[in-house]
Amino acid sequence: MSNLIRWPFSALVVWGAAWLCYNFLAEQGTHPSVAMLMATSLGVLAAALAWLKGISKARAAALSMGFPVSLWLLGNASFPAWVWLLPLALVIWIYPMHAWRDAPVFPTPLNALRDIPRWAILPAQAKILDAGCGAGDGLKALRLAYVNAQWIGIEFSRPLSWVAKFRCPWAEVRCGDIWLDDWGAYDMVYLFQRPETMPRAVEKAKAEMKPGAWLVSLEFEAAELKATAVAEASPNRPVWLYQAPFTGQSS
Ligand SMILES: C[S@@+](CC[C@H](N)C(=O)[O-])C[C@H]1O[C@@H](n2cnc3c(N)ncnc32)[C@H](O)[C@@H]1O
Repeated sequence: MSNLIRWPFSALVVWGAAWLCYNFLAEQGTHPSVAMLMATSLGVLAAALAWLKGISKARAAALSMGFPVSLWLLGNASFPAWVWLLPLALVIWIYPMHAWRDAPVFPTPLNALRDIPRWAILPAQAKILDAGCGAGDGLKALRLAYVNAQWIGIEFSRPLSWVAKFRCPWAEVRCGDIWLDDWGAYDMVYLFQRPETMPRAVEKAKAEMKPGAWLVSLEFEAAELKATAVAEASPNRPVWLYQAPFTGQSS
């Protein structure tokens, strides 16, 4: 389902279908509890199918629980049916869909990057970009690793960029798209995105990053490149380091 209809529209379709089913059964005179059970089962079935197709557990839970939760909310308050869509609109505003395709909001643990200066030695006042800086946790981890640097964060979500600005007043945080920025300006570009994002990041890094600069990725390997080093700051959380000019895996 997630491939057929993009999240969160898939959730809207499933919740909407469950509500249609509930209203239809209620109009036919079905007892409200039975209508509720059948409509909920529809959501659970859709969630199970989507889960088999590879959707995450959290999204499967959201698909199956959307209808009963909204019914419960409406049963306990006197507001119109569309009001339960407001929290979803708020989530989309905080975390725009464009960004969902590159990465979910997961922060870098504070100590995850503490070892990387052993390999990636940067000049004083080096420019370090956290590409997709979220709420600023990656910037904090980068500052812990490199005390004498300039830290720059770019974040697609405006509210998250405000939070990052507030939490990291020593960094230059911008609301923007990492793919539209010129990575040639940086001594290090740090990524904590998704496996699917890495090929695009590699292409951009190859085209723009200057010799000697570092592409650093938490957790997700750039399979096209030969890693200069891999730091194991925490279990199952490798930090992949690549220094320009980049070489391929086979060379
Ligand atoms: C996994 S979070 C990492 C946040 C932060 N770098 C950290 O490590 O704590 C990825 C972030 O990248 C942002 N993002 C995804 N695609 C983006 C894009 N094209 N431009 C800017 N930010 C983007 C998301 O909004 C999200 O906040």
